[in-house]
Amino acid sequence: MANKVLEVRNLSKVYKGTEFKVPALDRVSFELYTGELLAIMGTSGSGKSTLLNILGALDEPSSGKVFLNGKETKDFFEEPKATLYRRDNIGFIFQSFNLLKDLTVEENVGLPLILKGLAKKEVEQRVDEMLSLVGLAKWKSHRPIQLSGGQQQRVAISRALITSPPIVLADELTGNLDFNTTKDILNVLVNMKKRLDKSIIIVTHDPNVATYSDRVLFFHNGKIVDEYECQSKNNLQNILKKFQKIMEIDQ
Ligand SMILES: Nc1ncnc2c1ncn2[C@@H]1O[C@H](COP(=O)(O)OP(=O)(O)OP(=O)(O)O)[C@@H](O)[C@H]1O
Ligand SMILES: [Mg+2]
Repeated sequence: MANKVLEVRNLSKVYKGTEFKVPALDRVSFELYTGELLAIMGTSGSGKSTLLNILGALDEPSSGKVFLNGKETKDFFEEPKATLYRRDNIGFIFQSFNLLKDLTVEENVGLPLILKGLAKKEVEQRVDEMLSLVGLAKWKSHRPIQLSGGQQQRVAISRALITSPPIVLADELTGNLDFNTTKDILNVLVNMKKRLDKSIIIVTHDPNVATYSDRVLFFHNGKIVDEYECQSKNNLQNILKKFQKIMEIDQ
């Protein structure tokens, strides 16, 4: 059995305001294994982004526990520790790429290493290796605006992986990309996962995207209501069937 890199136990989140109380996550428990690509699917408002935000220490849970490599993360939900926790443990990939527009491709990818205090020479070497892996070596002096959406997302993937974080979190990473570019980006992600043994969680609305994962968790009203282990065939049909069943709950 592979290593458990992440363990989530009875995680709940209630957003509270003066006028409202929204239960966004309700006793969610699951684990993520080393080298696993886990997809989170669910209807809009089912708590997917809330979950990723908590796992990435961008938000605090109301109750429940998260363990990273066996160690509870409860001390890391508050600043300034949260920033350090993110820097050392989490790679983020966003739908809108979130690259720094005034920096070149190589500067964007190298930034997390510079922030960690690595020497310039080592940063250059690691960035070159990473950009070769994602097929962007030729573009290293370009700025984000000079690249296509798919190329920008490759830069973002490189930036998320460059520090070798134990977990990578991606919320709708192909949401702004067309069908072919989506396939291309998912192949890059799967390839990187295999070569670098990365543990990745992707949130997606798209059953096609979920077929690239090893396992799918289905969310509804803040709960995990179903699960699917991807096999060698028929994944799209099986995922679609389960997803449709969840959408029917509300009707
Ligand atoms: N900061 C917040 N304050 C109050 N309620 C919030 C906040 N963020 C999210 N919510 C609520 O929590 C629930 C879960 O939201 P979340 O963004 O996690 O859903 P999601 O599954 O990511 O949806 P989508 O697929 O539309 O992105 C929703 O009912 C949402 O309105
Ligand atoms: Mg969301």
